Amino acid sequence: MDVVILLGAPGSGKGTVAGRLVAADKTLRHVSSGDLLRDAVRRHTAAGDEAEAYMKRGELVPDALIARLVAELMAELKGPRVLLLDGFPRTVAQAQMLDRTIEDCGASLSAVVLLDVPDEILVNRIAGRRICPACGAGYHVTNIPPRVDGICDACGGALKVRKDDNPETAKNRLAVYQAQTVPLIEFYEARGVLRRVQGTGPIDEIVERARRTF
Ligand code: AP5
Repeated sequence: MDVVILLGAPGSGKGTVAGRLVAADKTLRHVSSGDLLRDAVRRHTAAGDEAEAYMKRGELVPDALIARLVAELMAELKGPRVLLLDGFPRTVAQAQMLDRTIEDCGASLSAVVLLDVPDEILVNRIAGRRICPACGAGYHVTNIPPRVDGICDACGGALKVRKDDNPETAKNRLAVYQAQTVPLIEFYEARGVLRRVQGTGPIDEIVERARRTF
C-alpha cells in the first residue's frame, strides 16, 4: 500500500480533493483524522471525550492520541492500493510516529501533497462550509452549493455548520497550522517527497494536479 499525505491549512480543500479522487478511483481509500476524531466524539469513546475540548478550541489533540487512532485503522486496512491521509500528520512528532506505523504495515510513503491556498481564501472557504452529518458530504454556500439550499444532494440530509467553523475557533486553527504544521513542509521537502499543488481555481483542475503527483 502506498501512503499519500494531503497537507494544507484548514479550508485548503484536503477533504474535497480526497473525496473526488476516491470517487474516481476505487483503489484509493480516504482517511481524515478530523473525521476520525469527530466520530469518536459523537460515539463518546475515551479518545473522543479527551479530544473534544481541544477541538472546540481549535487546538491540536495530543500527538499520541491521534497517532494511535490512525495506527489502529491502518493495521486493519485491507486492499487499498493507495491510502490518502488527510489531516495527519500535523506535527513533526506525528510524522515520526507515522513513519513507524508505515513500516509496521509494510507500506511506503509515496508523496506529500501540499495544497497551497492564500489566507484570505481560506477564511472565506471555512466561513461558507456546510457539511452533511448523515453522509459526510461537504459543500460551500457559494463555491459548491447544493442543488436545494440547506439539503444534501447525496442523501437529502439537512446541512450544518461544523462546530469549529465559527470565526474565533477558525482563526485559532489557522494560527495553530502556522505554528505547528508548517514545519512539516521543510521536514518532507528534505526527504524529497513534497509536491506543491496550487489549491485555487476550478476543483477539477486542482484534483487533476493532485492526482498527477502520485
Ligand atoms: P480537520 O477536520 O482535519 O480540519 P482542518 O485541517 O482544519 O481542515 P478542514 O476540514 O477545515 O479543511 P479541508 O482542507 O479538508 O477543506 P475542505 O475540503 O473541507 O481537523 C479538525 C480538528 O481536529 C483540528 O482543529 C484538531 O483539533 C483535530 N485534529 C485533526 N487532525 C489532527 C491531528 N493530526 N493532530 C491533532 N489534532 C487533529 O474545504 C473547505 C471549504 O472550501 C468547503 O466548504 C469546500 O466546499 C470549499 N472548497 C474546497 N475546495 C474548493 C475550491 N477549489 N474552490 C472553492 N471552494 C472550495
